[in-house]
Amino acid sequence: MSFPMLSLKEFRRFRPQKPTCALFHWPPDSYQITPDVHRALWEVSRQDAACISVAVPPARLPEAFALAKKKIHGIHCAAPHQAAILPLLEETDDDVRALHLADTVAFQGGRAIGYNTELAGFAASLQHDGIALHRKKVLLLGCDGAAKAMACHCAKEKAHLTITGPNLHHVAALQKQICQIVPGARVSVFSRRHIPCDMQIVLHPGPEDFLLSCLPRRTEYLFDAACTSPVTKLMQLAGSRKTRTRNGLLMQVMQAAQMQTLWFQTCPTPAQCETALRRLSGQMAVKRLRENHGKQNIVLCGFTGSGKTTLGRKLARLTGLKFYDSDQYLEEQEGQTIAALFSSLGEHGFRDRETACIHRLAQKTGIVLSLGGGAVLRPENVRAVKQNGLLICLDTPYYRIVQNLSGSGKRPRPLLDGGTDRQSEIYRLYHARKAVYRSVSDCSVRGVKISELLEHLMNTI
Ligand code: S3P
Repeated sequence: MSFPMLSLKEFRRFRPQKPTCALFHWPPDSYQITPDVHRALWEVSRQDAACISVAVPPARLPEAFALAKKKIHGIHCAAPHQAAILPLLEETDDDVRALHLADTVAFQGGRAIGYNTELAGFAASLQHDGIALHRKKVLLLGCDGAAKAMACHCAKEKAHLTITGPNLHHVAALQKQICQIVPGARVSVFSRRHIPCDMQIVLHPGPEDFLLSCLPRRTEYLFDAACTSPVTKLMQLAGSRKTRTRNGLLMQVMQAAQMQTLWFQTCPTPAQCETALRRLSGQMAVKRLRENHGKQNIVLCGFTGSGKTTLGRKLARLTGLKFYDSDQYLEEQEGQTIAALFSSLGEHGFRDRETACIHRLAQKTGIVLSLGGGAVLRPENVRAVKQNGLLICLDTPYYRIVQNLSGSGKRPRPLLDGGTDRQSEIYRLYHARKAVYRSVSDCSVRGVKISELLEHLMNTI
């Protein structure tokens, strides 16, 4: 997730090597996900283009704009520049004229054309989830961020919109604007203490703190434009209820896809957008792993047959981390199968070799490591993998483990295969170890299918 971040001075000297767009943002250290989103889309669609990030002080916007017009294909304007850029544009689309905000500038035939992609990005995200707004009771939490575009889309779709926020003057001003843009729009204003409980759809435009301690009773769908976490604090309010939730990452991808079409006339397909979304969520999980947990690796433990290897492979593909399976690594190092090691060395000898391998693997960084089912029984192994890794226990239900371990074509498990009664050996070992897996791990994820485990795991990191 690295891309050139330039000051205005550096942008003056900048010479693009390939088709390039720039994110104009301010203040300089404001985190913006845009360049990562563009890069993910280009990787998937195999385009050779670049996105740079330029810190543009508001007073220097005209200079930065003139430089961009000479050098690059287009600009994505972050919040402080979206209104200030309007007088510099030669043409604007309908949404810019309605909202008085341009988030995208494309230089086409020597002309600077302004677009607003927020509205279309939001609409595309809702459409992806099959959410229709017509006559729905929609609650908009606040006036910041994408609030204007979201409110405008709701009004155009004839939703019954309620807006609330910490400052009721701002809320009333937004209500007035929306009613001017969409005459006849049904927009009401409530203080946050008096929100009606029959709101069916709740929208949070971010980034200000959300305004609820619980969701209205009838909420069917919750959209939070924040996208740094897969389950934002607001999304956590949905808890175990049936309320469907979506964070802002898909909206960002849909917006970026539209921007790329405007800048380079390349139109990412819906399938490419889906793949980019998956990869981005994987990259963001790695970022959280480093920033929130101070770790470089993801280490999976759990009972034999709990799905560690299958899940680990998928997780590695999603995050871009390298995959290792401690059993496979041991077999490669020793040139023998696990079953052969067990029969030649006995369990204790096998565990010694396993420990040596785990210590070697634990030194690596940027990996997903699936551990053999007995690896965490030795505290020294746990200590070793936890140095660089977040240790996650797969808490797969017992019946599923039994299913996974039955059937032909399964690899031999010497600990289970020795005696006559395999089922009771699985039962005995599982109950003897269950508590150990949980107690040594930093966290655990429960799920029946691999897809469920993967989703929970991504939400846990
Ligand atoms: C073992 C589990 C196996 C393997 C070895 C011992 C165990 O790995 O390391 O047969 O003690 O539970 P899986 O968990 O991948 O089956």
